[in-house]
Amino acid sequence: MSKLLITGAAGFIGANFVEFWHRANPDDAVVVLDALTYAGNKSSLSAVLDQDWFTFVQGSICDQPLVESLLAEHSIDTLVHFAAESHVDRSITGPDAFIDTNIVGTHTLLKAAKKIWLGEQGIEQHLFHHVSTDEVYGTLKADDPAFSEDTAYAPNSPYAASKAASDHLVRAYHHTYGLRVTTSNCSNNYGPLQFPKKLIPLCLLNILNGDPLPIYGDGKQIRDWLYVDDHSRGIELVIKNGRLGETYNIGGNNEWANIDVVKLLCEILDSRFAGNAELATRFPNSPCARGESAESLITFVADRPGHDTRYAIDASKISNELGYKPQEDFDSGLNRTVDWYLVNEGWWRSIQDGSYRQ
Ligand SMILES: NC(=O)c1ccc[n+]([C@@H]2O[C@H](COP(=O)([O-])OP(=O)(O)OC[C@H]3O[C@@H](n4cnc5c(N)ncnc54)[C@H](O)[C@@H]3O)[C@@H](O)[C@H]2O)c1
Repeated sequence: MSKLLITGAAGFIGANFVEFWHRANPDDAVVVLDALTYAGNKSSLSAVLDQDWFTFVQGSICDQPLVESLLAEHSIDTLVHFAAESHVDRSITGPDAFIDTNIVGTHTLLKAAKKIWLGEQGIEQHLFHHVSTDEVYGTLKADDPAFSEDTAYAPNSPYAASKAASDHLVRAYHHTYGLRVTTSNCSNNYGPLQFPKKLIPLCLLNILNGDPLPIYGDGKQIRDWLYVDDHSRGIELVIKNGRLGETYNIGGNNEWANIDVVKLLCEILDSRFAGNAELATRFPNSPCARGESAESLITFVADRPGHDTRYAIDASKISNELGYKPQEDFDSGLNRTVDWYLVNEGWWRSIQDGSYRQ
């Protein structure tokens, strides 16, 4: 039985990970530390908040005494680190918070883990798992090979640079102090509970509300998309069987241009609305409610500065060493995502009207 401290699990991937982990490891105790910043939403954890295996603590990873006391008082042996400022556009307009949380915050966690696990508490079988992104590798040309764990770091946004710095700090605490660490770098995730400023939920909800679907530049930027539970599956494999000090890339072998992602989503919504009077009544402003295609909402907007052209993940290391294989394809994953947002209207409406902050 393990005792986990999971940072940033009121956010998209962490909240999905908590439920995923509990389904697979029902005897483990879980403590979540989350500062509830911009994308943090405690109601994303509503299914687990009152469970006896679960504890929620509102606080910052930059608060070293708090982190030390959680590690010691809950006898934590496994720290899974999701907490981050994660929205690239926000890192362009206000990079400071990204430096504070992603770099200083990660370093604070490492200092606390070193102090408690290698010192005071002496927990030999500890593990610090760091969750990172493929954006640290920069951008690819159309025919470049996909990012492998040996690809040189070349981050292009303040977000990617701050995540790259945090990856290096995690690595350094392993090599310098012997902290037991693993790192995973994952491609773009999608699925339930994703904050509706990200491409897929933003477009899905704009289709329902009849608002424009903003596409940066020509929409030809290519991303590799992975269903969020397939990311959790990869993290679980790395935590349980990954080699200490190693990095594993997690990806879906599922490259799509942004414009094609949006068109596929439009197709799914067009067919959901076809002949469905209940959806047309619930979402009367959607063009689909009038029998028009959601594609009519596509609007091209000025490109993001420094927008990376293509990301692609070579996941052969995790697949060969740990037997990793994503379970969801894009069509099934997108349909599950659409199902979730249709059933959980209260969750996303509270973000759109700001009431989730209370
Ligand atoms: N979303 C993706 O597609 C993707 C892909 C690869 C890697 N990642 C990484 O996965 C992790 C989670 O991403 P996400 O999309 O769930 O992000 P998110 O923005 O939805 O959630 C981040 C969470 O961190 C919390 N947080 C922020 N600052 C904090 C602080 N100082 N102390 C404690 N908590 C704090 C927020 O309140 C929020 O709940 C990040 O580290 C991100 O870099 C994300």
